[in-house]
This record gives sequence, C-alpha cells and structure tokens, in this order.
Amino acid sequence: MTAEPKPFVALVTGASSGIGEATARRLAREPGVRLVLVARRRDHLENLARSLGGATVVPVDLTAPAAPATVLEAVGRAHGELHLLVNNAGARWAGTFAETGWENVERHMKINFEAPVRLTEALLPLLRATAAKKAHPVAIVNVSSTSGRVARRGAGGYSASKFALAGWSDSLAAEERENGVHVGLVLPGFVATEGFPQAELRAHPILRRIVSSPGVVAEAIVDCGLQGQAERYVPRPYWIAAAARILAPRLVRRATAGGTFTPASGADGGR
Ligand SMILES: NC(=O)c1ccc[n+]([C@@H]2O[C@H](COP(=O)([O-])OP(=O)(O)OC[C@H]3O[C@@H](n4cnc5c(N)ncnc54)[C@H](OP(=O)(O)O)[C@@H]3O)[C@@H](O)[C@H]2O)c1
Repeated sequence: MTAEPKPFVALVTGASSGIGEATARRLAREPGVRLVLVARRRDHLENLARSLGGATVVPVDLTAPAAPATVLEAVGRAHGELHLLVNNAGARWAGTFAETGWENVERHMKINFEAPVRLTEALLPLLRATAAKKAHPVAIVNVSSTSGRVARRGAGGYSASKFALAGWSDSLAAEERENGVHVGLVLPGFVATEGFPQAELRAHPILRRIVSSPGVVAEAIVDCGLQGQAERYVPRPYWIAAAARILAPRLVRRATAGGTFTPASGADGGR
C-alpha cells in the first residue's frame, strides 16, 4: 500500500483567469495539493474549483482594507497551514503620465504592489509556522513583469508598481531565508490573457512569436515556488532586455520610446 502524500497548501491570487488560472491548474497536478483560489469573480473561481475536483474559494477584492484578514481567516479555517503563496493578481491601464496622472499610478500601486505586500504581511506568520514543521518547502512567488525591469511609454504606473514589487521581493527574500520561507520572482514578457490580450502583437506575422501562453508562466511559477529558483523571466531570454537596460540605457530608451511595444491607449487591464 502506498502512503498518502503529505498535504501541501497552495494559494493563488488572480486565479479566475490567465496566468493565475493556469498556475492553479498546474499546481493541481502536484501530489497532496490543497488549493486556495483568490480573485473577485466568485463564479469563475467556483467553476475552476469544480473542474479541479475541489478547492477553497475566496472571492475578494484584494485592494479592500479587510481583504488580507478575510484571506487569512479562510486559509486558517480550511487548512491551518500554508506552503505556497503566489501573489499573481494584477492589472494594467495604459496611458501617458500627462494624460492619466497620479490617479493612474495610484491604482496600479494599489493592486500590483500594495495588495501583495499587505496579503503577505497577513500570511507571513502562518508561512513561517508552516516552514518550522519542515514537512514541505515553503515559498512566496511574486509575479512582477519584464516591465518591472524595463519601462515603456504609456506604462509608467504599471512599471512603477512592478519595479516596486521586484525590489521588495529581493529584500524579503534576504530577510525570510533564515525563517525557511523562500521568495521567488517571476517576470513574464508578453502573455496573451484576458487583461493583457496582446492583440496587436498577435496580429503581427512575425512578432506574434514573442507572445507566450499562461501555461509557460505557470511552469516558471512552479519552478520558483517548489524548486527554490530565485528568479525567472518568461520567456527566459528576456533577461537580455533587463541587462541591456543597465548596460545601454540610451539604446533601450530609444527602442521603448514608441512603436510596437507601446501599450495601446485606454484601459486594458481593469474590469
Ligand atoms: N499577460 C501579460 O502579458 C503579463 C506580462 C507580465 C506580467 N503579467 C502579470 O501577470 C499577472 C496575471 O495577469 P494575467 O495576464 O493573467 O491577467 P488576467 O487574465 O487579467 O488576470 C488578472 C487576475 O487578477 C485578478 N484581479 C485583478 N484585480 C483584482 C482585485 N482588485 N482583487 C482581486 N483579484 C484581482 C483578476 O480576477 P478578478 O477580475 O476576478 O478579480 C484575474 O484573475 C498580473 O500581475 C500581471 O501584471 C502579465
């Protein structure tokens, strides 16, 4: 008789679509996994939970002041431990700073930076306590973006929030190492999803090849969360863009000043 795999609790924010949904589906294949799915759209989360044979569903707006306590309460009640926190929920609204101002910067900071920081603050004691049991590795994976290394025209608020998330992740990784909580960072490039349709790139005969699928990012999230990788670009060669930003900033500024890689104006990340 084979022994039952030890329970492994994984929480994914933004699980109602795109990268978060793909990550939940990928994690569901891990032995002993118990999933916690977080996003605003209850019907999407419940359908996903059903299709995965069950999961704890927490429909919540992560920018709401009470959201971290709501999620902590739900995880504590259902499982009492937490091995993997994937801070993936996020959004983008395109527009230049002159057009959209602080209001647009602030709404990016709220969902892409403040929300994962506040959720991590609430869940960190549970992650540390789970790590102390030493049954499974314990990790946080933050989903930033290649825009968290290289900023483009019309995406200042988005880049500011993703740069902030990347910087904070590095510091947290250094602090939590001694507590057995690994912190990984995933930086996707162009991925076709509901909030980030990448319509112009996908319509281009050559550039459509640089658009990835959510499943590829999900594998990178699992590599960071379960295999202890520190950082992953998706696709991997996108680290070159980040290196070029350091080595040749003038060249990168020229390349990002306009054209194909500029997000279309108007809201494309908010619902
Ligand atoms: N796709 C790309 O090209 C790309 C590239 C780099 C980085 N990323 C990052 O990858 C992450 C996932 O994006 P995606 O491409 O999978 O987009 P997506 O399909 O639009 O998914 C975004 C997820 O975030 C959730 N969400 C948004 N606002 C929320 C809020 N206030 N409270 C709770 N949940 C919220 C959405 O669920 P509800 O609407 O149900 O709340 C949805 O599940 C984001 O952090 C994004 O910045 C994406």
